[in-house]
Amino acid sequence: PVPPAFTTAMPVPTVLRPLSSTGAVDCYELTIRRSTAEILPGIATDVLTYGGHFPGPVIHARSGRRVLVRQHNDLGMPVTVHLHGGNVPSASDGNPMDVFAPGTARTYVYANRQPHASLWFHDHAHHMEAEHVYRGLSGTYLLTDDLEQSLPLPKGRYDVPITLRDARFDERGQLAYTMSDRNRTTVLANGRPTPYFEVAARKYRFRLLNGSNLRLFALSLSDGSPLTQIASDGGLLERPVAVPVLTLSPGERADVVVDFSRHTVGTRLVLTNTGPGRPEQVGKVLAFDVVRTADDPSSVPEVLRTLRPAAALPKAAVTRDIELSMDEDGRPDPRGFINGRMYDPDRVDTTVAFGSSEVWNVTNSNKRAPHNFHLHLVQFRVLERGGRPAGPTETGLKDTVRVMPGETVKLHVTFDGYRGDYVYHCHMLDHSAMGMMATFRVR
Ligand code: C2O
Ligand code: CU
Repeated sequence: PVPPAFTTAMPVPTVLRPLSSTGAVDCYELTIRRSTAEILPGIATDVLTYGGHFPGPVIHARSGRRVLVRQHNDLGMPVTVHLHGGNVPSASDGNPMDVFAPGTARTYVYANRQPHASLWFHDHAHHMEAEHVYRGLSGTYLLTDDLEQSLPLPKGRYDVPITLRDARFDERGQLAYTMSDRNRTTVLANGRPTPYFEVAARKYRFRLLNGSNLRLFALSLSDGSPLTQIASDGGLLERPVAVPVLTLSPGERADVVVDFSRHTVGTRLVLTNTGPGRPEQVGKVLAFDVVRTADDPSSVPEVLRTLRPAAALPKAAVTRDIELSMDEDGRPDPRGFINGRMYDPDRVDTTVAFGSSEVWNVTNSNKRAPHNFHLHLVQFRVLERGGRPAGPTETGLKDTVRVMPGETVKLHVTFDGYRGDYVYHCHMLDHSAMGMMATFRVR
């Protein structure tokens, strides 16, 4: 039932309006519930949603302004909501065990005491997170601040969040969560299969999120021009970087600017994927169709922000080695490990001092399986990848970093903001569900 490429339009996700806005607080209310979405033309597909939205909705937040989200659980099973990339109190972090029951509600408090960043929120109920996110429990949270607003980057309708993910459909057009049928895999951009998106001949900012469970994307433009990456997980890079191929592992974000003014009206530019998978299924992501001209007062400044250079980061008090691994012997129920141990919610694996800085050397000791590494609470810096200084797209603020088989990434982390218990895990969500997750305590 999957239609030919570029026959459905890519929707722009719905922006939520606060129920109330008083003083320095915006209040939202959402019901987590089942719904249907027309993902494939003429077919109602069952999905799980925040407030009935598929693709998930967008919350706009501003640094220094508090956001409260009251989440009602109408799903019939326990859920928990994690603001990915957010510096939030432990009680609002959506810990995998901190679920709330069907028929109840929970208010999440986001103080937004951090700079601008393209964040996202998703379900994190232990063992169910992968399937819940796959079925739709994912939304966008765009945090802005004065610095970002002062820049002449594309704004408003020219600033478009795009969530990319794969999906498999059965004969009835329903989402098949089982891994077995790889033949029906297709890429969804904002919840539609390989759609088209009509653009004006000017610059756009696209906020790309890899919302997949396991899939890695390697994205490029069909005219051979590079993508201009301006931001990573934790906000703007210091300078724009021309990226011929943009790699995104699950949970990672990259904001890119594409200038369509180089093209005449009538041009179609395709965003292609050369990541793992069959090209005929996942090789095409999205078509940009240039349909009109437009004025373009926007520009991409040569300096976007300043960050502390790696050499000037606070001295690390502790260096830790973190090893990610999973069974690769073909057993039916492979297990995932961090430093040889499966996730145990009753165990604190790592205790760090509030306000201190540490260096974490994260190694993927598997032969074939890629992993990535996500820390709750903080944005970190990638110092080295495979013993070499991190490349320019990885030197900004990050909360998720890819770690390929046999590779080690060296991270600099400062644990500030809040004390409490948080998790770190592989963000290939099947792997965290298999046990590749651990708890750290900030005290
Ligand atoms: Cu995006 Cu612990 O998750
Ligand atoms: Cu993994």
